[in-house]
Amino acid sequence: MRIAVLASGGDGPGMNAALRAVVRTAVGEGDDVLGVRDGFEGLLRGDLEAMDRGAVSGIIERGGCVLGTARSPVFRTPEGRARAAATLREHRIDGVVAIGGNGTAAGAEVLAREHDVAVMVVPGSIDNDVVGSDESIGFNTAANTALDAIDRIRDTADALRRIFFIEVMGRASGALALHVGVAGGADAILVPELPCDRDELIELVRGVAGPHKRSTLVVVAEGETPGGAFAVAKSVGAAIEREYRVQVLGYIQRGGRPSVRDRVLACELGLRAVEALREGHVPALVGRIRDEVTLTPLAEVAHRTRRPPVEYLRLAQRLSR
Ligand code: F6P
Repeated sequence: MRIAVLASGGDGPGMNAALRAVVRTAVGEGDDVLGVRDGFEGLLRGDLEAMDRGAVSGIIERGGCVLGTARSPVFRTPEGRARAAATLREHRIDGVVAIGGNGTAAGAEVLAREHDVAVMVVPGSIDNDVVGSDESIGFNTAANTALDAIDRIRDTADALRRIFFIEVMGRASGALALHVGVAGGADAILVPELPCDRDELIELVRGVAGPHKRSTLVVVAEGETPGGAFAVAKSVGAAIEREYRVQVLGYIQRGGRPSVRDRVLACELGLRAVEALREGHVPALVGRIRDEVTLTPLAEVAHRTRRPPVEYLRLAQRLSR
């Protein structure tokens, strides 16, 4: 077979490990592999390079993505996808492995449907919002990176009896905020999935204050507007006469060395993606559900969003007092 592999959307730790697994599995089976630079954008401009075992040597431990990744507005148009399909035909590609999150799954599904392309999606997203896998590659590392920062901020908050509003990533997903909020002992967590009632939040922040408690942490998912934690802090902080600070964690959450868990997940899913492509189970998404590597038809999972565990909000509140 001739297999094209690409990563698309936001980068995340473990994408390189997945790429390595795809290339080495395919080459091991005697297939030709072409890496596409900058995701679907690379298909639009015909930017592909042959990859062998050596091309993915020394990348399992690296964050980012050696092939580059992109969000491609042109690929979202029918004309863009037609051009991408033409590139695949020109290079006589039999199947595509696409590593990325919800946008990648949606784009791959439309490409497969419109142009009969054999596509296998490997979920890679720090948002952990891809349906069809309990965990996406990158989420575990990003959560640990954010948690490390929260623990450090807690030291300062404790020392100075401050309220901290800490913004973590997640434009449309509260998964990261919910996990690091619980794990970091946050008093309140704000996520895009649920409206935030300002008065309730003020009550909550007031209620957790006490002589035994020197710091208050509010974890805020960034939502549509990065930096939105400043507005939340201003509005809540004005009502509470305590010193507060805001910390936006931002892009430090996306890069860095992948954790053991993300590397192993990437190896498993990358290998299975190639096997399943060769077996003809396409278009599909390869995932890990309850300790098993699974395949789900792409049409069943694309254009959907995995709901985060919003019950963690209550868990954080109950335990922070
Ligand atoms: O989807 C991954 C993610 O990191 C989100 O958590 C975040 O809201 C968004 O990407 C940021 O996107 P960009 O890299 O385009 O600024």
